[in-house]
Amino acid sequence: MGVVFCFEPPGEALTWFTASNPPPEPHLPSGWRTMEFDELDSTNAALKRITEQGGEVAEGLLVWAHRQTGGRGRAGRVWQSPPGNVYASFLIRAPEVPKNAPEIGFVAALAVRDAILEMPRHNTAPPAITFKWPNDVLCEGKKVCGILPELAADPDKRNWIVLGIGINLIEVDVPGALYPVGSLSEFHVDTRPAHALTLLGRSLSAWLDTWRTDGFGAIREAWRANGPQSAAPLSVRLPEGPVTGTFAGLDDDGALLLETPQGRRRLVVGDIMFGEN
Ligand code: BTN
Repeated sequence: MGVVFCFEPPGEALTWFTASNPPPEPHLPSGWRTMEFDELDSTNAALKRITEQGGEVAEGLLVWAHRQTGGRGRAGRVWQSPPGNVYASFLIRAPEVPKNAPEIGFVAALAVRDAILEMPRHNTAPPAITFKWPNDVLCEGKKVCGILPELAADPDKRNWIVLGIGINLIEVDVPGALYPVGSLSEFHVDTRPAHALTLLGRSLSAWLDTWRTDGFGAIREAWRANGPQSAAPLSVRLPEGPVTGTFAGLDDDGALLLETPQGRRRLVVGDIMFGEN
């Protein structure tokens, strides 16, 4: 896995960048750092290896690959990773993991929504963005982004979350997908991975601040604004089989509350199925 570029955000020492000679993107928030790779097995796997090797790491370390050979999705699925899309993993400090690890996926979904809405478009209105529990971001009803938070521990046993984010910028083909899948280019959003990461770094930093300052309650409320309507019918695929009911909100920790004919259920894993929000 060859590093093709490693960029420290410009500090005072790098003032030789000018408007006509701007630093390369992504431009990340102050103190964040990028490691860019042409190809990786998985950015999540690579960032975990880096964290666990014991080198100096800090929040905001971004591992970004142009393509992945072993991109992984939720529940052990494959994440198709041709060149042209975003494949990124951010290192996030989360002292209370694993207790609040799932919360970070909702933080990330909000950040992706905001980044998408800021991406350049070809003279069109912004696409309708919605969320599918737990962490999918949909554009006009099609999944355009998947989020995979995973735990990592460094040798000092400090806890980190490796926050993997894949955004389909160009066309993708996912054989046998459980739900409609799309790319932002279908909705006339026209951007490249590096610029998408600049926007994403900014929005992610802002939503992490909200999470830390105002708590998960504020994140949950913001997510609900673009999540399923109350009492929307949902069908959720669980390891033991599908369960059908209506959306009754998110629990304090982000678990899905589903009203079923047998009573209210609290689900921490599962996939909302094709055609449902
Ligand atoms: C999902 O199944 O919806 C989650 C998909 C997450 C994909 C991203 S791409 C970057 C990062 N590296 C991986 O191997 N997976 C995540």
